[in-house]
Amino acid sequence: MAETDQALPPSDQLAAMNLTDTVEKHAFSDRVLIRSIVGRPDGGAGLAGQRVRAGGWVKTGREQGKGTFAFLELNDGSCPANLQVIVDAGLAVLSKLVATGTCVVVDGILKVPPEGTRQKIELRVEKVVSVGEVDPAKYPIPKTKLTLEFLRDHLHLRARTNTIAAIARIRNALAFATHSFFQEHNFLYVHTPILTTSDCEGAGEMFQVTTLISESEKLEKELIKNPPPSEVDIEAARQVVSERGEAVKQLKAAKASKSEITASVAELNKAKENLSKLEERSKLKPGIPKKDGKIDYTQDFFARQAFLTVSGQLQVETYACAVSNVYTFGPTFRAEHSHTSRHLAEFWMVEPEIAFADLQDDMNCAEAYVKYMCNWLLDKCLDDMQFMAKSYDKGCIDRLRMVASIPFVRISYTEAVELLEEAVKGGKKFENEVKWGIDLASEHERYLTEVKFQKPVIVYNYPKGIKAFYMRLNDDLKTVAAMDVLVPKVGELIGGSQREERYEVIRERILEVGLPLEPYEWYLDLRRYGTVKHCGFGLGFERMILFATGIENIRDVIPFPRYPGRADL
Ligand code: 4AD
Ligand code: MG
Repeated sequence: MAETDQALPPSDQLAAMNLTDTVEKHAFSDRVLIRSIVGRPDGGAGLAGQRVRAGGWVKTGREQGKGTFAFLELNDGSCPANLQVIVDAGLAVLSKLVATGTCVVVDGILKVPPEGTRQKIELRVEKVVSVGEVDPAKYPIPKTKLTLEFLRDHLHLRARTNTIAAIARIRNALAFATHSFFQEHNFLYVHTPILTTSDCEGAGEMFQVTTLISESEKLEKELIKNPPPSEVDIEAARQVVSERGEAVKQLKAAKASKSEITASVAELNKAKENLSKLEERSKLKPGIPKKDGKIDYTQDFFARQAFLTVSGQLQVETYACAVSNVYTFGPTFRAEHSHTSRHLAEFWMVEPEIAFADLQDDMNCAEAYVKYMCNWLLDKCLDDMQFMAKSYDKGCIDRLRMVASIPFVRISYTEAVELLEEAVKGGKKFENEVKWGIDLASEHERYLTEVKFQKPVIVYNYPKGIKAFYMRLNDDLKTVAAMDVLVPKVGELIGGSQREERYEVIRERILEVGLPLEPYEWYLDLRRYGTVKHCGFGLGFERMILFATGIENIRDVIPFPRYPGRADL
């Protein structure tokens, strides 16, 4: 789908602001936001006659009336709609204003345009305050239909496009909605670490954090510039030490003066210091430090192996088991080599954790949170959603309405597999075989949510063999109290579970999945001391944006996407 460059008429919902007839200057800038003019329910008409300063980037510009004036469509990112600006030739060199991407700040009077125009208000310029010019021959994102793939190669400029700016506003709104939802329900926002020494998912998909490589490169360079001492150098230094020692001995035997002896001892100490420095340097070896044939992490920055976190869950559990309701919301990192439109190497996750709560509570919370976000977008971002509906996915607004209003389907994993098997019998072809015990593939998840039910589906009680060690073992001893929320367009949006709170059981599970106990001792302490029934989940924030907007590729809904082979800027 291509980036389209058309402004939408302002929606009624955009401005839930008071319809006063004065427009306020932005609090921290000397201009008014374009949103506060064209984002009003009256499209700005009620502001006619007001003098304002506006600033923004030209979306489209054209000279008219044989070069006597120019029309500029100005956008400052505060809303999807542009402000139409009219500049007379006497005020500026018009050819320098009209190129797409030009930044202009202008003072002028708001006027109601002649009958029959789309705009409800336009700005008649009295003074051009400043211009940030663009050479249209060189500007990398000129006004043509640009594909999202093309824009991925211009991350530093792509926020200038309508699509990426709209996604940025939707993303911002969803983050606000997230805090709002959890704060309203008395959850405490806890900052969990980015650098970690424990692998939450136990899947070994962690990015390692180490200074061993840069340190060893530094050392290699240093040793070339300043080679380590040879055995001969060290022997010579030893000789000096023994000579100086001898000198001190002789002075003492000859009962020399105190000051003479002190001076000689000082010389001896200097020689000893020099020797030990040389000995120390002679031990320096290029390369990564090793011990018993393995990398010696005791010499690494944290004196142990460290990673970027794959999830804040384990750490946030420590707070849940003390202050009851918590959530963390931050970047997470996975070194999976998946080149899919649903995976990133760096993505943001929202992870609530609830004490005194079980799997049912977990599902209820997940469903309420997703519905809350849908309503929030319908309430606060309808203009951007209309843009998405027009340009990318005509069903996206109806989908938000549907998800906000209907109960999610809830089926067990076993039922899900039965439904998939029925589908296969009915002629449906999947690439991945369906049988009890498999990890549901994306095609299975999407079949359930998009074809079978056509609404969000929560699948619960998965086989323990395909889920993480921390999930609570069910009484059947075969399944765990896990739940995934599947939604149309995306598949898995949320993964969560009730946590195993029984010390003996979780200890056994850690061993069973082949993880070492030692790094999880602190986690086991939560079960040793004052253990509590608790649950939680993780929502992939970018997947929520995909679901809301209908954008196809996850690389377009995060400002700076990281995936195998790419980490621009
Ligand atoms: O299902 P996951 O792996 O669950 C956890 O990490 C749990 N520790 C969460 C918890 O219980 N606190 O990941 C949670 C969600 C997935 O459902 C998916 O939406 C998203 O994170 N996700 C990704 N999003 C983008 N790129 C990736 N590589 C993702 N991996 C998971
Ligand atoms: Mg998952």
